[in-house]
Amino acid sequence: MLMAAISMLLLPLTASGDIKIESKVIFNTNCARCHEGECSGRLTFHLQNNAVDQHIIRHGGDELSLATIRQLSEVLHYMKEKCSFYPMTVDVKLNGIYSKKRLDKLKSPAGNAYFVPLGSLEAGSYQLILEVTGVDSGYCMEIISATFSHIEKRIINNSKEKLIVQFNVDEQSEFYLRLRSQSPLNLNKLELLAIESKNANN
Ligand code: HEC
Repeated sequence: MLMAAISMLLLPLTASGDIKIESKVIFNTNCARCHEGECSGRLTFHLQNNAVDQHIIRHGGDELSLATIRQLSEVLHYMKEKCSFYPMTVDVKLNGIYSKKRLDKLKSPAGNAYFVPLGSLEAGSYQLILEVTGVDSGYCMEIISATFSHIEKRIINNSKEKLIVQFNVDEQSEFYLRLRSQSPLNLNKLELLAIESKNANN
């Protein structure tokens, strides 16, 4: 017991669990419009905290708490240094269904965007089935790899509830789904299916 407690204390505070999932979702759905894939390795300008806070509030909204503002800033620093999305520890299983409860955690506080980690996918063909409701003005759907390539991007203008997207993966990577709309939308269900895998022996 005591040893376990001590080793907990000694864990290094790197890509920490201190960043709330909400901050990652805000960053990847909103701030990413301008900052996605910035891999300069260091900060380009050295504003005072205060000026950075103002910038984040301008783009993220003035209802953000100070803690969230600082986390957002940290997420950008992480992206610049590691040239990757901030890790999202959401348990994802292939050929799995994501329930609404799980998807709700991946919805932006403004209610008009989602950022869903699809897990690590091998080369092959996949099908994504989405059930989206409550959209007034259409939405944009993107599938993005860990190296920031947009392997799929579609503007959906119809009000059909079900969207089926087929996509190919050429090289194993983590993938993410992003939905964005001008007005609130609900992602009620998501299903990810492997149609065929080039490495059929697993
Ligand atoms: C319309 C484009 C745009 C949006 C949206 C945007 N930013 Fe920025 N941001 C910039 C530009 C341009 C700079 C200054 C140049 C740079 O460092 O990239 C900057 C600088 C920053 C800096 C200082 C970076 C440094 O290198 O010192 C932080 C932190 C930051 N933004 C965070 C955010 C966060 C968090 C959001 C979302 C709430 C956000 N930004 C939304 C364009 C944008």
